[in-house]
Amino acid sequence: MIKNTFQEQIITFFQGKLVVPDFPTIPFIPGDGIGNEVWNATEQVVNFAVNASYKGKKSIRWKKVLAGEKAFQETGTWLPDETLADFRHYVIGIKGPLTTPVGGGIRSLNVALRKDLDLYVCLRPVRWFKGIPAPVHHPENVNITIFRENTEDVYSGVEFAAGSTESRLLIELLGQHFPKEIQKIRFTEDVGLAIKPISKPGSERLVQSAIEYAIQENIKVITLVHKGNIMKFTEGAFLQWGYDIAEQKYGSKVYTSRQWQKTQKSSGEEFANKEKEKAIKSGKIWINDIITDAAFQQVLLYPQEFELLVTTNLNGDYLSDALAAQVGGIGIAPGANINYQTGIAIFEATHGTAPSIAGKNMANPSSLILSAEMMLRYIGWEGAANLIIHGLERSIAEKKLTPDLSQFVEQSIRVGTSEFADIVCKNMID
Ligand code: NAI
Repeated sequence: MIKNTFQEQIITFFQGKLVVPDFPTIPFIPGDGIGNEVWNATEQVVNFAVNASYKGKKSIRWKKVLAGEKAFQETGTWLPDETLADFRHYVIGIKGPLTTPVGGGIRSLNVALRKDLDLYVCLRPVRWFKGIPAPVHHPENVNITIFRENTEDVYSGVEFAAGSTESRLLIELLGQHFPKEIQKIRFTEDVGLAIKPISKPGSERLVQSAIEYAIQENIKVITLVHKGNIMKFTEGAFLQWGYDIAEQKYGSKVYTSRQWQKTQKSSGEEFANKEKEKAIKSGKIWINDIITDAAFQQVLLYPQEFELLVTTNLNGDYLSDALAAQVGGIGIAPGANINYQTGIAIFEATHGTAPSIAGKNMANPSSLILSAEMMLRYIGWEGAANLIIHGLERSIAEKKLTPDLSQFVEQSIRVGTSEFADIVCKNMID
């Protein structure tokens, strides 16, 4: 009998830090639709970058796990318990897009993964790659990271259909206990209801993680995005709790616009900008805030004013895609869902399964490749991550593009998904 000498190496999280072995096992879900194609390209690019950087001294042992359509066909469930257990066990994972099953009672698999693993930060770095067609004049001014809360808000899934017993009961209960408040609901018959929980611990852990991230990444400005002028006890509370935790826990490292406003008679943008400059010059992170609708205008008009946006769940969802569009679309935007307290993180393509181009070697794998690049950085393998960026930047600059982009770029060379991966690899070392 052949003795199995393969010793699995597992990433662990110890005293707030990841401990990464040289040959870690990392689970992956290729995904549905274009998932297989973009995953194959990503695996090729990551393995190439790791090998080129560490010459065999480090490499990833990929472990395929099931979710989505494939899981349903093979096991009868869309998200098997073993998959969740694997993501917990191996700490880091990566996934392609998954079909959201249509029909009552089944949650979005992405939402289920985020909730079950309590991945409270949806991290979306948004930057422009030279050569990518963008709808604005200066996409190069966009270099913004979004920290979106991932477990609360109207996305918590506490929602009752119009006409349901639950909805009627809730209306009845509100009527009994809050007769004044119930009058604010325009129609109490046939009304769908949803709960919007925004908690102090949920807001605090998000803002804390964002500040830690800013310190690590040398980010100088953090902006809390909220709709607190209208929703005072949810969005407004998010803002105040955010400022509170920043001032209490990071007093020596940050200066908030709220602190400044409390001590100054002067107000207005001009004075705020001076304070911001002063704070940054003294080595502190400037934390300010903006109302969501204004944020949509300002990131479009003055993207250079923003570095890190911290948002509630729904606002962050909209803002992430809008910003991705500003630099050329979600085909290239990467993302990660992270719990910085347990270290558990799942990196993911931000686009869907694109069924109309599935199996045609037409999909752009950049979103998943860049998500893998984020993953490599997260585990401290910067050398390989830098190589991937280098390879991707050069390939795009050479105008070798998948059809989603090449159709908008004059004199571009249209390539398929697998050719694009070959070109990125070649460009890493040439
Ligand atoms: P989608 O992102 O799949 O497609 C929107 C458009 O973008 C389509 O024209 C598609 O062809 C194109 N597109 C998307 N990714 C592309 C890529 N990498 N390269 C080239 N073109 C690309 O969104 P849609 O159509 O709303 O959803 C399709 C399915 O995907 C649904 O089942 C949905 O639930 C699921 N979905 C899953 C997500 C995830 O797993 N993170 C995110 C969004 C949607």
